[in-house]
Amino acid sequence: MQTRVLTGITTTGTPHLGNYVGAIRPAIAASRRADVDAFFFLADYHALIKSDDAARIERSRLEIAATWLAAGLDPARVTFYRQSDIPEIPELTWFLTCVTAKGLLNRAHAYKAAVDRNTEAGEDADAGVTAGLYMYPVLMAADILAFDAHQVPVGRDQIQHIEMARDIAQRFNHIHGRDFFVLPEVVIEEQVATLPGLDGRKMSKSYDNTIPLFAGGAKGLREAVMRIVTDSRAPGEPKDPDSSSLYTIFRAFADAAESAAFRQALLDGIGWGEAKQRLLERIETDVAPMRERYETLIAKPAGIEEILRTGAAKARAIAGPKIREIRDAIGLRKAPLVVTPPPVQVTTSAEGSVAIKAKPHKLPRFASFRDGDAGFRFRLFAADGEELLLSMPFADPKAAGVLQQRIRQLGRAAVLREDGDTLVLELDGEAVARTPQAGDEVLAHLREALEQLATQD
Ligand code: TRP
Repeated sequence: MQTRVLTGITTTGTPHLGNYVGAIRPAIAASRRADVDAFFFLADYHALIKSDDAARIERSRLEIAATWLAAGLDPARVTFYRQSDIPEIPELTWFLTCVTAKGLLNRAHAYKAAVDRNTEAGEDADAGVTAGLYMYPVLMAADILAFDAHQVPVGRDQIQHIEMARDIAQRFNHIHGRDFFVLPEVVIEEQVATLPGLDGRKMSKSYDNTIPLFAGGAKGLREAVMRIVTDSRAPGEPKDPDSSSLYTIFRAFADAAESAAFRQALLDGIGWGEAKQRLLERIETDVAPMRERYETLIAKPAGIEEILRTGAAKARAIAGPKIREIRDAIGLRKAPLVVTPPPVQVTTSAEGSVAIKAKPHKLPRFASFRDGDAGFRFRLFAADGEELLLSMPFADPKAAGVLQQRIRQLGRAAVLREDGDTLVLELDGEAVARTPQAGDEVLAHLREALEQLATQD
C-alpha cells in the first residue's frame, strides 16, 4: 500500500535557497518514491491570515507554484492543487470547528506568542489577533484530514499543529462513533540541512538574511552570495570550514568528493572572494536549469492555472465523497427530493358520488401516423391540443422517431424560419417540419411548446 504524504506551502513571500534545500528538494525527491502518494498544495487560505495584500498574495501564489514545478515536481505523478480550489476544505473546517475545544486553540503556539507579546506591551491580550489566526490549526487539520493523509512532513514549528489535527480527528471519530479520519503522523526530516543565511544565522525571511532562489535571476544570486559574511582572514591564511557558512551552503549542493575538495581549498587558504565564486558556480550548476524552466512557466500563468485546476479536480475526487459521507453522518443528509403528486380532478355526480381522477397530462406531445404512400409523419400538439407542427414524410419510422427526440432537446435553440404562410423548423439546414399557419401567435406557441419539451427531459 502507498503511504499518502501531504504537505501545504503557505503562499507568502518569495522562495529562497533555504526553502529549496530544506523543503522543496526533499519533498520532490520523496514524491518520486513508488511507495508514496504525494499531495502538495498551495495553502492560500492560510496566506490570508498573514497578509491582506491581494496583489502580493496573488503574485506569491504564482511564484511558488512555478517554483515547485521548475524544481521538478511532476503534476502527473503527485496531486498538486490550491487550497482555495477545494470547497470541501472550508466545509470540513466548520465541522471540525464544532468539535474543537476552544481551550485547545488557546494553547496554540502562534496564538500564545501573540498574546504574550500583547501582555508584555501592556495591551489587551487579544489586541490585533484575528479569529483567522486563532482558527489556523483547525483549517490546517481540515487540509490534512480531508485527504486521510498518513504522513505530514513539516518544519519543527508545525509539530504542534499536527498533534492538534490528531486530537481533533480523534475527538470527531469518538463523537460520531466511527473512524472517519486517519490519524496523521508528523514527519520531521532530520538529515535535511538548514542553511545559514547571509549573516550566519538560520536563513529566514524573518531575519532578512535570505539568498533568493530565482528572484533577481543569476545576478541576484551572485550579489547575495557575495554578501555572505565571512571572517577577516586574508587570502593565503587557512580558513576554518566548520565555522564557514560558505562550506555549509556548498555541502548542501555538492556530493562528498566535491565537498572534500572545497574543504581542502579552505584549509589551504583560498581567498574568500574566490571561495564565493566557487560556491556560486556550484549552486548555479543546479539552479540555472531550474531558473530557465521557472522563467518559462511564469511567463505563461495560464499554463500554471491549468495544472492547478487539473490538480484540484484530482483532489476533489477524493475529498468530495469523503465530505459527503461526513455530512450524512453528522445529520446533514440531503433528503431525497419530494415528488409532488400529480394534480387530480374531483368531480361530483348528480347522485352526489365523488370521483377522483388524475388530471390529463398538460404537456406538448408528438403523434406519429402513416400518411398513405408518402411514408411516416408526425405531428406536434401543444398542451392545449392545438396542432403546432406537421413533419415531412419519412420512409423509415425510426428516422421519424430520432427526429422527434432531437426536437425534444432543442428548446430555445430551435431554428424557425418563415416560409410563405407557414413557419419551418430547420435541423442541420433542412426543413423537417412546418406549422399549419404563420404568425406571431403561432411562433410564440411553438416556442413555448419546444421549451416545455426541452425542460421535461
Ligand atoms: N502551516 C504550514 C506552514 O506554515 C502550511 C500548511 C497549511 C500545512 N496546511 C498544511 C502543512 C497542512 C502541512 C499540512 O508551514
